[in-house]
Amino acid sequence: MRRAVVAVLCLALPVWAQGRDEVPAAVAGCVECHQAQGLPGMPGWPRLAGMERSAIVEILRGHRDRLIPDSTMDKVAAYLDDAQIDAAADYFSRIEPGDPSPFDFGD
Ligand code: HEC
Repeated sequence: MRRAVVAVLCLALPVWAQGRDEVPAAVAGCVECHQAQGLPGMPGWPRLAGMERSAIVEILRGHRDRLIPDSTMDKVAAYLDDAQIDAAADYFSRIEPGDPSPFDFGD
């Protein structure tokens, strides 16, 4: 099951990653849902662009360590080590928060 999830993420990646060479490896699996710009991939999903770095680290560790229950992010974060969490937090916290998204309803 775990391998299947990773395989699906890897297969989907090349489509999303086109022209996005700047996305670091630790973030490769995130962009399917959060997009390379950290924008909501679906209505109601959170915007990561411009989030505080420390908040991203805290949330990802919370999901990985099962302190924050969530069916989707639990599965994703279960595979992350501290270095990958730091790299993902660096990446999304540096994005300007103002980028528009058709799915962003300003929750
Ligand atoms: C399969 C889709 C999917 C993938 C892949 C995914 N996420 Fe998420 N993520 C979500 C959803 C859906 C939520 C909202 C869950 C909730 O209700 O808290 C979320 C929430 C978050 C939040 C909390 C945002 C907030 O404002 O509370 C952070 C931070 C986050 N994701 C980071 C990441 C990172 C970093 C990765 C890659 C390592 C990643 N996500 C991969 C779907 C995904």
